[in-house]
Amino acid sequence: MHTLRNPQLAAGGHAKMDWVTAHMPVLGQIRTRYQEAKPLAGQRVAISLHLEAKTAVLAEVLHLGGAQVAITSSNPLTAQDDVAAALAERGVEVHAIRGANADEFDQMHHRVLDIEPTLIIDDGGELTERLHGVRADLAKHIVGGAEETTTGVTRLRALASQGHLKYPMILVNDADMKHLFDNRYGTGQSTWDGIMRSTNLVVAGKTAVVAGYGWCGKGVAERARGLGARVIVTEVNPVRANEALMDGHQVMPMDEAARLGDYFVTVTGNYGVIRSEHFDVMKDGAILSNAGHFDVEVDVKALRQTAVRTVPGRTSDVVGYQLSDGRVLWLLAEGRLVNLAAGDGHPAEIMDMTFALQALSLEHLLKSRLAAGVYPVPEDVDHWVAQIRLRALGLAIDQLSEAQRVYMEHS
Ligand code: ADE
Repeated sequence: MHTLRNPQLAAGGHAKMDWVTAHMPVLGQIRTRYQEAKPLAGQRVAISLHLEAKTAVLAEVLHLGGAQVAITSSNPLTAQDDVAAALAERGVEVHAIRGANADEFDQMHHRVLDIEPTLIIDDGGELTERLHGVRADLAKHIVGGAEETTTGVTRLRALASQGHLKYPMILVNDADMKHLFDNRYGTGQSTWDGIMRSTNLVVAGKTAVVAGYGWCGKGVAERARGLGARVIVTEVNPVRANEALMDGHQVMPMDEAARLGDYFVTVTGNYGVIRSEHFDVMKDGAILSNAGHFDVEVDVKALRQTAVRTVPGRTSDVVGYQLSDGRVLWLLAEGRLVNLAAGDGHPAEIMDMTFALQALSLEHLLKSRLAAGVYPVPEDVDHWVAQIRLRALGLAIDQLSEAQRVYMEHS
């Protein structure tokens, strides 16, 4: 029934799940309601998300809400085998193995789709890709789904604008309570966490080159500065380049930044951002990492082809590529998402908001029965998450008086 590396790892996974559960109060409220009201009774939910502890808690909550749930990991290096084993003991069908090859990764997505889902949660569009291709026959069962990430949203918008999208998808990434926190503070913190725990090197006094100044890039750059780095931002969008400048970062093309960086982090969503011509001029010992969805931002293939040999790093997450002139460039996590492949992803308090939005988006789909297309998270849902989080933190805010409300409406 499950696809796991080792079911006996479950104890470690339960400990991780219990820890994050205690730090996810918004999802906790949803859990309490779901246990009683079972709003997802009769639904079958297929999930492709990075399968670490917070994700497992979301899957568990959906299961407690009455749904049959099957889950796989949206990236072969981000599945945590202990968490997968624990979740399988909590009533969810799990198909996830860390380090799966491309064929196993594909097969595990198929196993999840085999439940003939009525609802889906996607991170980067792996389920949607199959539901519009080899598994298109299953699309007729789908009431709708929710997409987690910027890359998936871009793909969905393209599908929808061509009129090809077969069911409604809610763009969770675009909700304020998602991208303002998850993309910025989540990626900012978890990316440096992944880099620091895999390298065990200092950031202060070094030069960090951040490619891309979207919400994720803003967070990565800001946290680099907080750690004492000099930050260089590279961009293709002139507005964002101006933002980076006024936020106090240096701005220049990658051709120039490549010579200066000690750390490189790509967060553009595009491919081929750091390429051969950049490897040619980088400093000996430069550390290359990616925090974008796909492993195509650093041209890993070109790096492997250029290198005369590989050098083992301190863990399997760190591999050195020695070039013919003797320089070694260190690549983290094979160029995959460094925050999840070499870390545990975003902090629990951040994923609490994101995954509360995911659960509530599924409920919204059931209540509203939308036509095929892309939709925002409803504003009242976004605000509910904001309110509950403040309340959980013991914080109150001001309320508009009736006179102020009227003034705002008529001014
Ligand atoms: N944990 C689970 N999903 C995640 C995501 N998309 N980004 C960071 N951490 C996560």
